[in-house]
Amino acid sequence: MSSADTGPGAQDRRLGEALPEELLDAGERMTSAELAAYQLDRLRATLRHAYNHVELYRKKFDAAGVGPGDCRSLADLARFPFTTKADLRDTYPFGMFAVPMPEVRRIHASSGTTGRPTVVGYTERDIAMWADVVARSLRAAGGRPGHKVHISYGYGLFTGGLGAHYGAERAGCTVIPASGGMTARQVQIIQDFRPEIIMVTPSYMLTLLDEFERQGIDPRSTSLRVGIFGAEPWTEEMRREIEERLDLHAVDIYGLSEVIGPGVAQECVETKDGLHVWEDHFYPEVVDPLADEPGPDGVMAQGESGELVFTSLTKEAMPVIRYRTRDLTRLLPGTARPAFRRIEKITGRCDDMIILRGVNVFPTQIEEIVLRTPGVAPHFQLHLTRRGHRDEMTVRIEARPGAGADQRQAAAAAITQAVKAGVGVTVEVEVVDPETLERSVGKIRRIVDARGK
Ligand code: DLL
Repeated sequence: MSSADTGPGAQDRRLGEALPEELLDAGERMTSAELAAYQLDRLRATLRHAYNHVELYRKKFDAAGVGPGDCRSLADLARFPFTTKADLRDTYPFGMFAVPMPEVRRIHASSGTTGRPTVVGYTERDIAMWADVVARSLRAAGGRPGHKVHISYGYGLFTGGLGAHYGAERAGCTVIPASGGMTARQVQIIQDFRPEIIMVTPSYMLTLLDEFERQGIDPRSTSLRVGIFGAEPWTEEMRREIEERLDLHAVDIYGLSEVIGPGVAQECVETKDGLHVWEDHFYPEVVDPLADEPGPDGVMAQGESGELVFTSLTKEAMPVIRYRTRDLTRLLPGTARPAFRRIEKITGRCDDMIILRGVNVFPTQIEEIVLRTPGVAPHFQLHLTRRGHRDEMTVRIEARPGAGADQRQAAAAAITQAVKAGVGVTVEVEVVDPETLERSVGKIRRIVDARGK
């Protein structure tokens, strides 16, 4: 046996074990009551910090007639105004920072689809806290000191690469900072360096999978045992596809730059039942996506679906108060980490919801159907066009290599029927040749909207 085969991955080929009690950190050991008391204390401090140091918050609180002193219970948070992406754009670039610029140690930005990027800042302590929550996420996913972690999230202004990187180092892992792109070389590095863990978007994982096969390598034979996938919505069907083709555990990591980056919530490998929100740092609420005004009426009860909203509890450089993520999910009680609530896998973003002739369609609904259909690959795009006054959607999907004309036709018919039955709209389905659709190297673009406005 070579030395490469004696690492932790070789001792436990499955790497799907729950974290032993003694490895839980101080935050994870809190009881629900301790957590609630801690959250209230931190919430009050954060509201004060935001009000005292960020003009936008001061103006918004004043306009709503609330002050930091009005928050006497966690439920009082509902009285405070929401913060939106537009607020961040309006204060571009540094207007949301609550500390003097020399204390800001790092800046990240997300490109967004239109206009100015969203800028976020971190103090040294923010960066340390971020590393802690990502390290906690890695441990929940099965990562242990000594594991090699291949990071294919993009490095740069995007929070994925550097966020995962600092967290993996903090967890005592050996980091392979591959970033996104140069797919053939990534496959070679995975073959040669033998990482146990990969952190990557699920769509880029599919690109890597195809490349393994192109190079004649059986993806099930690699050293990879855990994949930590996030930065875009993905479904249970996609989990099954990836787990089956790679023989690894696929778990979900969630986060957004405005709140910190990756590591806001993480699925535990032993349960794979939704993502525990690291509530000692990020306080979640789910609200009615149509609610504009603060107030308890807009807040959904546990178990009800709506838009996820976060208030940071420990951030210094850029505290966020009731930040509207546009992500749709619901809150559920904790399981593997009983004191922390879970979010269900994100269905999609409000912004990605297609309204097709009055019916709401999410790309994840189409993904579920495509992945259940034999003969087609998990690569698809949704093309929107307008004929006269009528919006049309064409689902363009790649055939699996080797699928003949009959099988393609049957797949197209099956998908049309399943979308009609399950989603309630008629769509066109076009099965195209393998390797003809654009491949993801990071976040995938599912929707091609050619409707004009
Ligand atoms: O995508 C941070 C991240 C990097 C998370 C790597 C996980 C892994 P942003 O570029 O600001 O930050 O995009 C945030 O991506 O509001 C969601 O719409 C989406 N998103 C992130 N994680 C998930 C996930 C990073 N696990 C936006 N499931 C968020 C579904 C996700 N959507």
